[in-house]
Amino acid sequence: MKSGLTLGIETSCDETAAAVIKEGREILSNVVLSQIDIHQKYGGVVPEIASRHHIEAIFPVIHEALAGAGVDLAEIEVIAVTYGPGLVGSLLVGVAAAKSLAFATGKPLVGVNHIEGHIYANFLTGREIQPPLVCLTVSGGHTDLLLIPRLGEYEILGRTRDDAAGEAFDKVARVLGLPYPGGPQIEKLARGGDPNAIEFPRGLLASEDYGFSFSGLKTAALNYLNEAKQKKQEVPLADFAASFQWAIIDVLTQKLMAAAESFGVRQVILSGGVAANGSFREHVAAQAAQRGMELLYPPVYLCTDNAAMIGSAGYFRYLAGQRSDYTLNAVANLRLGDE
Ligand code: KG4
Ligand code: ZN
Repeated sequence: MKSGLTLGIETSCDETAAAVIKEGREILSNVVLSQIDIHQKYGGVVPEIASRHHIEAIFPVIHEALAGAGVDLAEIEVIAVTYGPGLVGSLLVGVAAAKSLAFATGKPLVGVNHIEGHIYANFLTGREIQPPLVCLTVSGGHTDLLLIPRLGEYEILGRTRDDAAGEAFDKVARVLGLPYPGGPQIEKLARGGDPNAIEFPRGLLASEDYGFSFSGLKTAALNYLNEAKQKKQEVPLADFAASFQWAIIDVLTQKLMAAAESFGVRQVILSGGVAANGSFREHVAAQAAQRGMELLYPPVYLCTDNAAMIGSAGYFRYLAGQRSDYTLNAVANLRLGDE
């Protein structure tokens, strides 16, 4: 069936998601069932609970995506599913669902790397991705700076040595008593705050390479809060949040721009949950404009986990001739370029 329709499936963390995408670029439906309410009381995602909810939700979510697009399963040309990285029990649910649908219908199956999916969210914006480019993928699990010389090829320039940027947001928010996920909460709290009020460390900023480190910043922020508590001093919350957020944005942007300049690219792209941060987007946009570079980032709803981006990445892999067989398995620590 040459319909150009991909059914994308994503269950790597706490979102059960399915989407129907036309020719890798047009979203016909995009269903994301979030488990945030369930995990919020634990302050983070509980893997066992996540996989159990994925099992209950996966087929209703797939049905809803097909119905929302107004297509039958028979009209789908290819089935794409995230097989890593992520929580193994969660990934397995999506992979098993995709394999069973592919087996029952005889349709081609394509396993997709979740990080590659985040990058392809940029394909769903109507703008053209034009390599060579430099991409920064920043999420709850990853901080990867990549050179993309050609579509589908990835050279990892640097990644975090400890916490991912989103993880730092989540941990500090948790100590502040804010609900999970912490990034959007800290962004809200930072509004009106002075980003230079508190000087927080910039891990590895001076290093020659493109590696990141956010654990020192996280510790400094937590120490600041503890000291204030011990001294019974009130924390200037907006200033604290703005300064913490700025420390992350500053390092991410400086390394991204240094890489873009060093490789002489004209385009830079952002992806992943932290790319939803408005101050980050604005700052990178200003820095890119100063250098005459084009900046792409997905709309907020496509920055965080969804299956539309998996459908897009899967379709382009399918066009490139990639197929997965029924031995496809979840790979919790899958890296870009491993497959
Ligand atoms: O990409 P994503 O949905 O899931 C992973 O693959 O990890 O990213 C989730 C991460 C969380 O750490 C969350 O706090 C962060 O993205 N995040 C944000 C914002 N929205 C989500 N961080 C900063 N500012 C935001 N507006
Ligand atoms: Zn993600």
